[in-house]
Amino acid sequence: MKESEEEMFRVNQDYQKLPGSYLFSTIAKKVKAYQDANPDAAIIRLGIGDVTRPLSKSVIDALHVAVDEMGDESTFRGYAPDLGYDFLREAIVKIDYAKRGCDIAADEIFVSDGAKSDSGNIQELFSKDCRIAVCDPVYPVYVDSNVMGGRCGTYDADKEQWSDIIYMPTTAENGFVPEFPKETPDVIYLCLPNNPTGTTIPKSELQKWVDYANKNKALIIYDAAYEAYISESDVAHSIYECEGAKTCAIEIRSFSKNAGFTGLRLGFTVVPKELVFDGVSVNGMWARRHGTKFNGAPYIVQRAGEAVYSEAGQKEIRELVGYYMQNAALIRSGLADAGYEVYGGVNAPYIWLKTPNQMTSWEFFDYLLEKANVVGTPGSGFGPSGEHYFRLTAFGTVENSKIALERIKAL
Ligand code: MLT
Repeated sequence: MKESEEEMFRVNQDYQKLPGSYLFSTIAKKVKAYQDANPDAAIIRLGIGDVTRPLSKSVIDALHVAVDEMGDESTFRGYAPDLGYDFLREAIVKIDYAKRGCDIAADEIFVSDGAKSDSGNIQELFSKDCRIAVCDPVYPVYVDSNVMGGRCGTYDADKEQWSDIIYMPTTAENGFVPEFPKETPDVIYLCLPNNPTGTTIPKSELQKWVDYANKNKALIIYDAAYEAYISESDVAHSIYECEGAKTCAIEIRSFSKNAGFTGLRLGFTVVPKELVFDGVSVNGMWARRHGTKFNGAPYIVQRAGEAVYSEAGQKEIRELVGYYMQNAALIRSGLADAGYEVYGGVNAPYIWLKTPNQMTSWEFFDYLLEKANVVGTPGSGFGPSGEHYFRLTAFGTVENSKIALERIKAL
């Protein structure tokens, strides 16, 4: 029998440091409250980057075949290999890497249930005292998951910053290109093309980060979830297009944004065998983690992923990306014509705009929701340098994107 409070079960105090709820949950709650109070409001959601187009024919066909296989004793599959089926890992290597001249092997690919899980879980590889550096604004998962891992120090509510995180502001002033931080980090998170700003950097700039990481013996976590949206030829689709990246970088990829798998769930992470720190193979560590905590992505979903790499599947994803990029161009040029300062939307499905009249990001969120019934994402939710900015996604339908734009222009 435990006698005193000190002896009681204690929860993980690092979780208690996190302010409020996850950004997109906060937005969903606010929108629900508004909709409940205004049931007739025809709300258009351009907030969370969730896709609206259905899955493509090749993907649906592959799912049907795989479902039938699961119902037949001779083709039924139980647990998937924890690191991924060879058929998918090999397809990834061939189309995503070999075709681009990157020397990545199938056993360096770790298939997962999505890039969000991997970007949150990857910090388990870092020691407790690692200093992490993030761009500001930033996809909140990188910071929140490191807070949960006890790596961020204390939160300064005025500055909206964690004491132990190194912030690299990316703003209109520096062209959204992060500068090398004054303090040397152990881990550098880069998301390119960038979520939330929708901007990116040329391969020559990325090479400088690879050289910097190798020189400083730092690890880069490279989130390339939006690579399918790259339209400019001087932008790298994978960090492994840069020389020396295999000794300093882990790359995270998603099927959500290129093939519309947000509801199906599939992603992968590349951990090269050359990645060795403290004399330890990071590839081996990630394999150990996957083997212990993950029983593999579902067979039917991995077959669907394989179909994305077929000739027809590749054509379909180009069409899908083209569809959303039409929206991006429409929103970008429409807002610019209306006098907004806009960024992104050329190599990414996000449009990043400066709020009008010095409104804070959340003031603009409320204003847009109430006056135009359009939902976006407040820039400040991604970090202090996102204040006075706002993000719209191009993942809506063309019809809704046009209506949303007309409503915003009419304000
Ligand atoms: C976003 O809106 O930033 C993304 O959809 C979030 C995610 O991919 O998890």
